[in-house]
Amino acid sequence: MIEKIKEHLAEVEAFSSTNKEEIENFRIKYLGRNGLLTGFFAEFKNVPNDQKKDFGQVINALKNAAENKVNSLKEAIENSQESKTVYGDLSRPGQPVALGSRHPISIVKNRIIEIFSRIGFNVSEGPEIEDDWHNFTALNLPEYHPARDMQDTFFIQTNPDVLLRTHTSSVQVRYMENNKPPIRTISPGRVYRNEAISARSHCFFHQVEGLYVDKGVSFADLKQTLQYFTTEMFGKSKIRLRPSYFPFTEPSAEVDVYWGLETETDYKMTKGTGWLEIMGCGMVDPNVLKNCGIDPEIYSGFAFGMGIDRIALLLHQIPDIRMFSENDVRFLEQFKSVL
Ligand code: DAH
Repeated sequence: MIEKIKEHLAEVEAFSSTNKEEIENFRIKYLGRNGLLTGFFAEFKNVPNDQKKDFGQVINALKNAAENKVNSLKEAIENSQESKTVYGDLSRPGQPVALGSRHPISIVKNRIIEIFSRIGFNVSEGPEIEDDWHNFTALNLPEYHPARDMQDTFFIQTNPDVLLRTHTSSVQVRYMENNKPPIRTISPGRVYRNEAISARSHCFFHQVEGLYVDKGVSFADLKQTLQYFTTEMFGKSKIRLRPSYFPFTEPSAEVDVYWGLETETDYKMTKGTGWLEIMGCGMVDPNVLKNCGIDPEIYSGFAFGMGIDRIALLLHQIPDIRMFSENDVRFLEQFKSVL
């Protein structure tokens, strides 16, 4: 009897199939209610006492072997079916791809570029590590000029000729040195100032510089261009130019746009006046043209500069400029734009 069971054991161990029906028949043959094992267990009581131990061991071994075999063959079939569905079911929905969003500074910058490109301005860039000439001297800010103090400059180590640009006006100089009029260019970029970091100001921020140089460019052209810009950018066409001072422009002006006083936010943003200051501008000083190799007797031009961060803060009602550089995804995710 024991020999017969051992033969079955060998048979069980040798069995293999990938066919569900065959495996089920195998299971029924050994493990089914009327299967072989049930018979062997029933036989147990007839086995002489001195053989009971050995007999018990072999039928248990046969039972375990049959169960393991059935389970492992079933598992093998399931696994192969799973891989079939992974590669084979083309109607399965795809893995979702998370959509990124542009940084609010980039959104505003791209809008400004787009608006000016429509009236023939190209985009130019310059280095963030500048020299004294391009950031100051060529812009009519000679050494010891008091206006240099207004721009808390970061100098690189001990060399006062190497600095982090304090404004994008340095790109004006580079552009005029390398291009002949007519010039129509805007220069977006990052600038640095040694200022205490707070909700309102940071030691780095972003500007867009504009420059237009040609024969017969007038202040009226400047005003018209700015009005076009505010209309496109903010949907507001009412602007005013307040006399101001910049070393590189003469005359110079500060540009305010009339935001209105319709909502409580308007009141807060404009401190109750309805007017918002958005940029500085003016006619390029003849000295600056000369410094850059352009004859001020033949050519004239206008320039303007605005802060991108400030505009982004205004447009999106962001309470703290530091949010732009903290990379908090919960903040950044809120800005969706095609540009
Ligand atoms: N560079 C100035 C600043 O950083 C902004 C500016 C004012 C630029 C007048 C100009 C301009 O081109 O004409 O505050």
